[in-house]
Amino acid sequence: MKKIITVIGARPQFIKAAPVIKALAAVGIHEVLVHSGQHYDTNMSDIFWEELGIPLVSHHLEVGSGSHAKQTAEIMVKFENILLAKEKDVEAVLVYGDTNTTLAVALVTSKLNIPLIHVEAGLRSFNRTMPEEINRILTDKVSSLLFCSSQPAAIQLATEGIITGVHVVGDIMQDVFNIFKDKKGQIELPKRFALFTLHRQENTKNVKQVNDIIQCLSELSFDVIWPIHPRIKAWIKELKVPHNVKIIDPIGYGDMVYASMNAECILTDSGGLQKEAYWACKPCVTFRKDTEWTETLENGWNQLFDPMTESLAKILENKPKQWPHLYGDGQAAYRIAELIKNFN
Ligand code: UD1
Repeated sequence: MKKIITVIGARPQFIKAAPVIKALAAVGIHEVLVHSGQHYDTNMSDIFWEELGIPLVSHHLEVGSGSHAKQTAEIMVKFENILLAKEKDVEAVLVYGDTNTTLAVALVTSKLNIPLIHVEAGLRSFNRTMPEEINRILTDKVSSLLFCSSQPAAIQLATEGIITGVHVVGDIMQDVFNIFKDKKGQIELPKRFALFTLHRQENTKNVKQVNDIIQCLSELSFDVIWPIHPRIKAWIKELKVPHNVKIIDPIGYGDMVYASMNAECILTDSGGLQKEAYWACKPCVTFRKDTEWTETLENGWNQLFDPMTESLAKILENKPKQWPHLYGDGQAAYRIAELIKNFN
């Protein structure tokens, strides 16, 4: 394989794509980069491109926000035009994760009979009320090459009848985490703090729900740093923020890793941050009923938490046990690049 298109559009995808871009170039594959525009604020997009050294995009779809249908449909129409009119000679399309960008591109690519490559295949929360779960299941169904972060993901694909083109390569985010984990960030941090993020649709339906959730943060005897997602920032004037919580704008990846490495604990509903907590050896509390990163739960490094019925201080009293190495060795990008090169 000599030429592929990669489509990314949301914050975690910029992070995941960065090491693969370098590895693909190293094996001689010409990669055309497309930004869907799903995330468009500087702090949600440009900051990552700069610090991760991602080259300029060839095509920007500029779809912006909207309902799931509008966002997905707009990406589909615009991306189809790229494939039909501007990049007719691509041999495959590469997507990451579980966003609306991932699904939209998967549908267009597979209907044009172009091979689809999915990085982070086989993850399941088994919760179909999450839009991301629908995106994952459907994308895997139409993919030709499926790269899994760990063996359980490959086993899950097999139970769904997907066995061809499946490879366990390790977790791509570990590649990036390793680059940043010993670097000092630029952000000022308090002595003792928890790092908190919240953005999932199921936790951010309205400002009341967010206010109900964040009250539990006042149980902590130390500060909480909260880089706020634009989804919630829109309600900032109506937020009832506990006295120990400091809201900041979304931060870059280097600062996020630096904050994770220095935090007492991590409180989140993000997928990626659950693993980053694990690699940073910090206890994680996940504000969800389920997680697709089930291995992190096994030794107590990650605990699922319902802020409406449980005590945050109490759940943090549970101390994690031993730390087995999970999700590969930080060399996923090179495996992915080699497998793409040899795919036919
Ligand atoms: C999306 C992904 C999720 C991923 C997350 C990372 C889907 C269904 N979800 O969730 O899998 O973990 O990105 O952050 O694709 N907004 C801005 N500026 C931006 C981006 C978003 O103001 O730069 C606002 C918009 O009002 C938008 C809302 O945030 O409606 C939510 O953005 P959206 O792209 O729908 O999903 P995320 O919650 O970011």
